[in-house]
Amino acid sequence: MKNKNDDLIVEKEEVKKISGLKNTLTLLKKAQIKKSTYCWIVLLYAISAVMAVFHAYLTACLTKSITQANFDNFVMIVLLFGVVSMLKMTFQNFQYIFNVKLENLIVKSINTKNYNQVLSLEISNFNDNSSEEFQNRIYAANQISSIIISVLTNIYEIIHNLAYTIIIFIYAPILSLIYAIYPICKIIYNKIMTPKFNALYNKNWKENGIKMTALSREAIIGVKDIKSLNMNNQIIKDYKAKQDAYYEQQNKINTYSIKTKFFMSAIVSLSDIVTFLAGYLLYKYANFSIVSFVLFLSYKGYIRQLFDQFSNLISCVSNVEANSYRGNELYNDKKFSKEKFGNKKLNNIKGDIEIKNLNFSYENKTKLFKNLSLKIEPNQITAIVGRSGEGKSTILSLINKFYSVDDNKIFLDGVDINQLEEKSIRSNIVYIQQSPYIFNMTFRENLLLVNPKATKKELIDACQKSEIYNFIMSTPNGLDTMIGENGIKLSGGQKQRLAIARALLNKAKIIMFDESTSSLDNESQLKIQKVIERLSSNHTIIVVAHRLSTIINANKIIYLKGHKVKDIGTHKELMGRCEDYKNIYKVEIVE
Ligand SMILES: Nc1ncnc2c1ncn2[C@@H]1O[C@H](COP(=O)(O)OP(=O)(O)OP(=O)(O)O)[C@@H](O)[C@H]1O
Ligand SMILES: [Mg+2]
Repeated sequence: MKNKNDDLIVEKEEVKKISGLKNTLTLLKKAQIKKSTYCWIVLLYAISAVMAVFHAYLTACLTKSITQANFDNFVMIVLLFGVVSMLKMTFQNFQYIFNVKLENLIVKSINTKNYNQVLSLEISNFNDNSSEEFQNRIYAANQISSIIISVLTNIYEIIHNLAYTIIIFIYAPILSLIYAIYPICKIIYNKIMTPKFNALYNKNWKENGIKMTALSREAIIGVKDIKSLNMNNQIIKDYKAKQDAYYEQQNKINTYSIKTKFFMSAIVSLSDIVTFLAGYLLYKYANFSIVSFVLFLSYKGYIRQLFDQFSNLISCVSNVEANSYRGNELYNDKKFSKEKFGNKKLNNIKGDIEIKNLNFSYENKTKLFKNLSLKIEPNQITAIVGRSGEGKSTILSLINKFYSVDDNKIFLDGVDINQLEEKSIRSNIVYIQQSPYIFNMTFRENLLLVNPKATKKELIDACQKSEIYNFIMSTPNGLDTMIGENGIKLSGGQKQRLAIARALLNKAKIIMFDESTSSLDNESQLKIQKVIERLSSNHTIIVVAHRLSTIINANKIIYLKGHKVKDIGTHKELMGRCEDYKNIYKVEIVE
């Protein structure tokens, strides 16, 4: 029962923050619509206006001839009416075609720009906002373009109805003025009722709706945990409570909509009754002609539509503003911060990393690192170990520049990462997480995403080096087998080995493995260890590991404790001098 103005009301609070049509224009600028397109819009509307006036005038002439039974020039007027109707229809069709093209143009260009913008935001934005928040803003363009088309269509309708209204006003000025009772009553009704209606569309109702959908989505994603922990009943109970709260208010909203419809119909009937009586009185006492009376009765609907279209137009414009506001938020640095890079290039990177006196804390959190310093040498395996929560993954994220740090704290080949251009960081470092993200595409497509120009030989080579080739070949279509939702499912180890193949195709010098073997069986773990050791001959390898047994061959182990570097050395050295390290290792061996 949601009507098309609902979104407008929901967004009312946001609209308040908007200064006029500024946001819409800013967003439309992103669509890069040519000036000539705007000229075409104006021309088509000018032609439509002329056609509408002619059409209304000729219809009035025909009605007049018939009511007066005066058929002089009747055939001539009919023919002219036919020509104007044909032209009007033709231009209207042009307009429809034009509107569809314009709509697609706006959607295409703004969506791509928004999508690009989202991908260039700082990672912290993704921690703080749900994916729906981004989708909502990326696809604001779809709403905007369809509303803009509604605005254009409304303008066309207004021109059309205005032409008829002018003609009626010429024939029956007093009755037309009396008919203004319709918009006046409507305005008064809206003035009184809109605040009450808006109160129903409050944040609470909106949030309940979002929570309800979020819970049902999460229940599907987490179905295994829900079943194994026997949470079904509690989840359904929670869902029902949210549903009850949402629909209780929804019912009130629906009742209001029905009441509004009833009241609007009553206003129409009232205006009709008043004008019938007024017309009769004017005919009886003020020489009002029957022709004008009949003309008025047949065209009064156009007056009503003119006002309805006009209020629709106002809603559409505000709706565009609200959506533009949302779309533009992606470009608003205060809400969504964009990654910042320098312009220095690193050619032929060695793969040397240094962190000097780094202080870091996640937003609004207490300090995680204070004066952290460490060095990672090229063509070696460096392991970072320490208890859960020490900040191992954070160090990897910081070297990847996923979060901003102060200047001169992290260096890549001796250059401050804040001065480096994006490509010099991202194409030289690959971060393989415990459960890497693999797209629902074929093996080949997943691999080509990182290096679209890779030859088949390069693909095979990368897969062989990462020990995933034999598995891929055992699947029904080899490299062209689909992975994911509609295809084969990969195990944790297979995902990681595929991610290593991606890293090799990316030709990254620095490869980071975060807990990559912790969830694997011994065989998969050994396979990955073998791959890592082979890669270390010409890559900087950083391994974050819980199981110390997997990193005993590392050239250097950085042991973290209390978010500080407690010790650095080889496994042998640390076993000899670092009691903590020795204890952790011993516990692991016993286990
Ligand atoms: N995105 C984030 N926002 C805020 N705090 C975070 C974020 N990510 C991690 N933290 C906090 O920073 C600290 C270090 O986290 P990090 O993930 O680096 O630890 P870790 O050593 O990798 O742990 P584990 O071995 O469990 O993976 C933790 O206390 C964690 O709660
Ligand atoms: Mg971690």
